[in-house]
Amino acid sequence: MRLPTLKWTGDALELIDQTLLPGELVIERCEKVEEVHEAIRRLVVRGAPAIGVAAAYGVLLAARAAGNVSPEEVRNHVARAADYLETARPTAVNLSWAVRRMVRAAEEKGPSAQELYGRLAREAEAIADEDRHANRRMGKFGAALLRDGATVLTHCNAGALATVDYGTALGVVYAAAEEGKNISVYVDETRPLLQGARLTAWELMQAGVPATLICDDAAATVMAQGRVDCVLVGADRVAANGDVANKIGTLNLAILARHFLVPFYVAAPLSSVDFDTASGADVPVEERTYEEVTGFGGVRTAPPGVGVSNPAFDVTPARLVDAIITEAGVAKPPLGPALAALKDETDRSAV
Ligand code: MRU
Repeated sequence: MRLPTLKWTGDALELIDQTLLPGELVIERCEKVEEVHEAIRRLVVRGAPAIGVAAAYGVLLAARAAGNVSPEEVRNHVARAADYLETARPTAVNLSWAVRRMVRAAEEKGPSAQELYGRLAREAEAIADEDRHANRRMGKFGAALLRDGATVLTHCNAGALATVDYGTALGVVYAAAEEGKNISVYVDETRPLLQGARLTAWELMQAGVPATLICDDAAATVMAQGRVDCVLVGADRVAANGDVANKIGTLNLAILARHFLVPFYVAAPLSSVDFDTASGADVPVEERTYEEVTGFGGVRTAPPGVGVSNPAFDVTPARLVDAIITEAGVAKPPLGPALAALKDETDRSAV
C-alpha cells in the first residue's frame, strides 16, 4: 500500500520527505510548528493542498505546545503560529486559507483550553478530509474531458504527493484510468527541482499509468507532432478572474497549447481559488535560492558568480485556459464568473 503523503499521529505530523524521492523513501516527523515551517520551506512537503493541510497541523502543534494555559493564551499561540506559517511560502493560497480556518476555529469564546484543542484537531482533520473528497470529485468531473486513448501532458507534480491523497491533475488521470480509459502521460521533468521527473514519474509508475518523461524543452516538439490531446496541470493560486499561478514553466505550456490548438486544463480545488486576488498580477511569486538553478543534487552545473533568476511560479492568463476543473464542477470561460458561480453554489449547499 502507498504511504500517505502526510499523516497526523496524535502528537506529530509525519511527512514523506519529497526532497529525497525517488531515491529514498524517508518519513520526517514534525513535533513542533517550527519543524512544519521548515518542512514547507524546504519542500519536504510541497504542492498547494498538501502544504495547506500540513500548515493546519502546524497550527495544531503550536496549540498543543501551549500546554496548560488559558483559552485566551491558546488563541494567542494559534494566531502567532498562523502568521508564522504563512511566511513559509507565499504563492499557494491554500496555506493561508488553511491557517485562517484554524484561527477562525479557535475564535469562539467559551470552551476550555482542552475543548479548544479538540476543536482545532477536528478542524485540521476536516481540512484534510475535504481535500481527499475534493480530489475524488475533481477526478470524476475531469475524467469526462479525457477520451479513451488520450495522451495528457503534465508539469510539476499535482498528484497524491501534492495533496492528502489522489491528486488534482493526476487525480483526473487516475479517475479516467479507473473508468477503464487508456490514458498515457507525458511528464515534463520540471526544472529546477525536477518534481516531474522525481515525483510525477514515480507516482504514475506506481499507479501503473503509462508515463513518458520529457525534458521541459521537448514540450513544443511533442505538441507539434500531434502527440498531445490536452495539457493538464494543477494550480497554486487561481485569481478571481481565472488567471492561474502554477509551477514555473506552466505559462510556456499554455502558450504552446494555444499555438498548437491543444486544450489547456487546470485542476484545482476551490481552496486554491483566491477570490480576494483580482488578477494574476497581484499573486506574490516566490523567488527561491540561486543554488537551485546553478546545480542539482549538490553538483554544480553553472559557473560560479553567474547571475541567476529563480521564480518558482508563473502566471497563465485566463484567456489561455480552456477549463478549470474544481470539486464543484468544471468552470469554462469566462472563468471569473464561472468560478464565482461554483463557489456560490457550494456555499449555498453548505448552509
Ligand atoms: O514548488 P511546488 O513543488 O510546491 O509546486 C507545486 C506546483 O506547482 C503544483 O502544480 C501545484 O501546487 C498544484 S498541486 C495539486
